[in-house]
Amino acid sequence: MKKKNKLILVLLAGFVSLQFFRPEKIDYGTKTQNLTNVPKEVNTILRSSCFDCHSSQTNLRWYDKITPANFLVTSHIKEARKVLDFSQWDSWPKAQQNSTIYYVINKVLSGEMPLPSYAAVHSSAKLNQEQIQTLKNYALSLAPRKASGDSQIKEAEEQYNSWVKGELKKTHVEDAPNGQHYFPDYRNWKAISTTDRFDNGTMRIIFGNTIAIKAIQDHKVNPWPDGTVFAKTVWKQQVQKDGSIFSGEFLAVEFMVKDAKKYSKTKGWNWARWKGADLKPYGGDTPNFEQECIQCHKPVANRDYVFTSPLYLISQLKKIQTK
Ligand code: HEC
Ligand code: HEC
Repeated sequence: MKKKNKLILVLLAGFVSLQFFRPEKIDYGTKTQNLTNVPKEVNTILRSSCFDCHSSQTNLRWYDKITPANFLVTSHIKEARKVLDFSQWDSWPKAQQNSTIYYVINKVLSGEMPLPSYAAVHSSAKLNQEQIQTLKNYALSLAPRKASGDSQIKEAEEQYNSWVKGELKKTHVEDAPNGQHYFPDYRNWKAISTTDRFDNGTMRIIFGNTIAIKAIQDHKVNPWPDGTVFAKTVWKQQVQKDGSIFSGEFLAVEFMVKDAKKYSKTKGWNWARWKGADLKPYGGDTPNFEQECIQCHKPVANRDYVFTSPLYLISQLKKIQTK
C-alpha cells in the first residue's frame, strides 16, 4: 500500500474509534412549548436561533453528533441552559419575562448571541435584519410610549430637582428587611452606566462607590472585590410632545453590596431596594425577597451577578488615546 493511503487508513481508524467516546447524556428531546403571550413570529425566531441551546428541546444535526463536535455542543447546551432556559418561561413572573426579552435583544444586537461559532455552522440560527427588527418591535410594544401631560411634566421636573439637591431623602430611612442600611450619599458616587429599559418604560442610572470604580480601573471586576456597592436608580420615562424622553417619576433605588463571605448565602451580595420618593424598604411582606433579585440576575451568574459592564471610563479612554 502506498504511504499516503496508509496514513488515511490510520486517521480513519482513529476517527472511528473516537466515536466510542461520547459526552455524558443530557436530555435533548423534551418538547418546549411556544412562549406564552409572545407573538408567533417572535417565537419562531427564538425557536430557530436560541432554543437549541437555551431550552430542553435541542435539534441536533448529524454533524453535531460526531465526536469531538458533540462534546463541544453538549457543554454549550449545559452552560446555556444554566443561565437561560426558555422551557421555564411559564414559571417566571411577567416582569422577568419582559426583562428577559429586553436582555435577549441586547445580546443579539451586540452580536454575542447566538454564539458566533455556532451560527457560522448552523445557518438557520443566524438572524437577519428583518428578524432583529421583529424582536425590537416586540420589545417596544411591551411598553408603548405615550406623551405626558403638562402637569405631569412639571411635577417630574420638581421631583428631579429635589433629587439632585438631595431633598428626596427622609431624615430617617428605614433599613431593608435583611438589615441593609440605606446609603444616603450614593448620588455623589460616579455613574457607570445608564440604560433605557424600553421593555417597561423606565430609565436607569447605575452608580458605583469608590471601591467599584477602583476595581474597574484595575480591571478586577470578576469577581468584584468585597466592599463594592452598586446603586441603581429607576425613573419612569416621560415622553414630551416632540417625542424626546426625560426622567419622570422617581420609582426606586436598589443596592448590591459585596461581601463574598458574609453574604455567601445570597451569591456574595446583599440586595436591597427602597421604593418611591418616600424611600420605603422593599420586601417586608415577601420573605426571601432576595431570591427574586437573584433569580433575575442569574443570566449573568458568570459575571458575578452584575449586568452592567462599564463601557466608558476616562482612564481607559486616555489609554486608548495614548496608544
Ligand atoms: C450554541 C449554543 C447557543 C446558542 C444557539 C445560543 N446561545 Fe446564548 N449562550 C450560550 C452559552 C454557552 C452561554 C453562556 C456562556 C456565555 O455567556 O457566553 C449563553 C449565554 C446567553 C445569555 C446570558 C449571557 C451573559 O453572559 O450574560 C443570553 C441572554 C443568551 N445566551 C441569549 C441567547 C439568544 C437570544 C440566542 C438566540 C438568538 C442564543 N443565546 C443562542 C450558548 C448559546
Ligand atoms: C425583572 C428582573 C430583575 C429583578 C427582579 C431584579 N433585577 Fe436588578 N437588574 C436587572 C437588570 C436587567 C439590570 C441591568 C440594568 C438595567 O437595565 O436595569 C439590573 C441591575 C441591577 C443593579 C446594578 C448592577 C448591575 O447588576 O448591573 C443593581 C444594584 C440591582 N439590579 C439590584 C437589584 C435588587 C436589589 C433586586 C431585588 C430587590 C433586583 N435587582 C431585582 C434585572 C432585575
